[in-house]
Amino acid sequence: MSAGVIDEAVLDDLASIVGPAHVLSDPELTSGYAVDWTRRFAGSTPLVIRPGDTAETAAAIEVLADARIAVVPQGGNTGLVGGSVPLAGEAVLSTRRLDRCETVDELASQVTLGAGVTLADAQAHVTTCGLSIGVDLAARDSATIGGMVATNAGGINVLRYGAMRTQVVGIEAVLADGTIVSHLAGLEKDNTGYDLGSLLAGSEGTLGVITRVRLRLHPIQPERATALLAFETTQDAVTAAAALRRSVGSLHALEAVFEGAMAVVSAHLGVAPPVGNLGDGTGDAAWLLAEAAARNDPSDELGAAVEELSGLVVDAAVALDPGARKRLWAFRENITEAISASGIPHKLDVTLPAARLAEFVDGVPDVVRAADRHAVPLLFGHLGDGNVHVNVLGPGGSEPAEAVDGAVLRYVADLGGSISAEHGIGAAKLSQLHLNRTEAELAAFGAIKRALDPAGLFNPNVLLPPNA
Ligand code: FAD
Ligand code: MLT
Ligand code: ZN
Repeated sequence: MSAGVIDEAVLDDLASIVGPAHVLSDPELTSGYAVDWTRRFAGSTPLVIRPGDTAETAAAIEVLADARIAVVPQGGNTGLVGGSVPLAGEAVLSTRRLDRCETVDELASQVTLGAGVTLADAQAHVTTCGLSIGVDLAARDSATIGGMVATNAGGINVLRYGAMRTQVVGIEAVLADGTIVSHLAGLEKDNTGYDLGSLLAGSEGTLGVITRVRLRLHPIQPERATALLAFETTQDAVTAAAALRRSVGSLHALEAVFEGAMAVVSAHLGVAPPVGNLGDGTGDAAWLLAEAAARNDPSDELGAAVEELSGLVVDAAVALDPGARKRLWAFRENITEAISASGIPHKLDVTLPAARLAEFVDGVPDVVRAADRHAVPLLFGHLGDGNVHVNVLGPGGSEPAEAVDGAVLRYVADLGGSISAEHGIGAAKLSQLHLNRTEAELAAFGAIKRALDPAGLFNPNVLLPPNA
């Protein structure tokens, strides 16, 4: 149901709710809302609405529902599966003005945040109380708390604190008819029926607009030690990662970069990795970035664990001060940007069972090339969670053949993995959802969707296959 040409009366109603400055219809102002971060997904919209609080959001949604105008909720627009943009002429509801950080509840170690608060602002807000947000990711300056809940974002600290759903202790949202549901008390034990926070986490804007979120917080672990470890083979890196998980109690992040991705990020940074043998980007070299964090200096614990890997590791660099640690992290945190600077990738984000991880990493380049012999696979990810990001570029930075996506995701499913570890399904993987979900599950998804959004107005192009 595209918005098409919007009736003047609808525009007037919306302007009276959110203020004329926050109803945008000039293409010069709306076009930025219609293309995603990767540039792979682009559409158009006749209308962007920017409410300033929950009441305005609810009233605006009611107007859209009455006019049967479909709407895409959008936060920071850093999503990587085409779920945040209007692909078929929908209206966009931007949450970026829902940016209020409420006072940190230090007794409960919780905070309530507007959905449009960026992760970086949320982190700065709770740091002053010695607390931290459990999820961290490189898009922190733009990604919003609401978007992170809606995608159940993962990031670099999942092995310690879990993904975004695990952080949510309360939620407020606007449903498709404009009803507000609010459950923000944040009681750790609260078995009073369905958990709407869990349901909305990972719902990708298809069930409601999240307006406020109450998050559990974690004590800051101020002392850090970071190691970049180089390996000759994938299997050595995977074996070492499992050993580090077992032996380092303060393990905070455990990331991997495989040779192709290391070649791209090194070229982008203009710096070779301090350890390891970087070939032409087609070899089997692998790097692990392991970070330990604790109240007291964890460097001895990490150092001892690295010593025990001496038969596997080719070379290691350890950094303790913030500047040196940041220089090691640069080889991981800048990969997404480096790849996008080279072209428009297809971004496949998958989890494998631990026992099939090395087999997958070594096998997937052939699967990619069998689908498109010119395609270039670049692999990295959150190895501590079994999560591999398979990014695929076509020649000269063009997009690879569509067939690559299906081939890789079928391979993942055959090995018992998930076709979406953390980015969600969006528009990108909607046609592959059946690889991981049975017909009965898809029917249950459809029933939930129809119950909460009977007219199908919320983000109609994502997550659910049309027949679900
Ligand atoms: P958007 O992109 O605006 O929206 C994403 C989805 O959520 C859409 O379907 C949208 O409709 C819906 N949505 C947004 N806000 C709301 C709301 N208030 N209510 C209901 N639905 C809503 N992701 C990871 O999981 N781990 C990573 O490590 C990671 N690293 C990244 C690094 C970079 C450089 C980039 C560009 C992206 C990365 N991402 C990562 C992806 C992205 O940052 C996350 O998916 C993030 O959660 C999206 O937040 P957002 O506010 O930008 O949401
Ligand atoms: C990451 O881990 O860097 C992100 O999920 C982004 C990406 O996959 O490019
Ligand atoms: Zn990731």
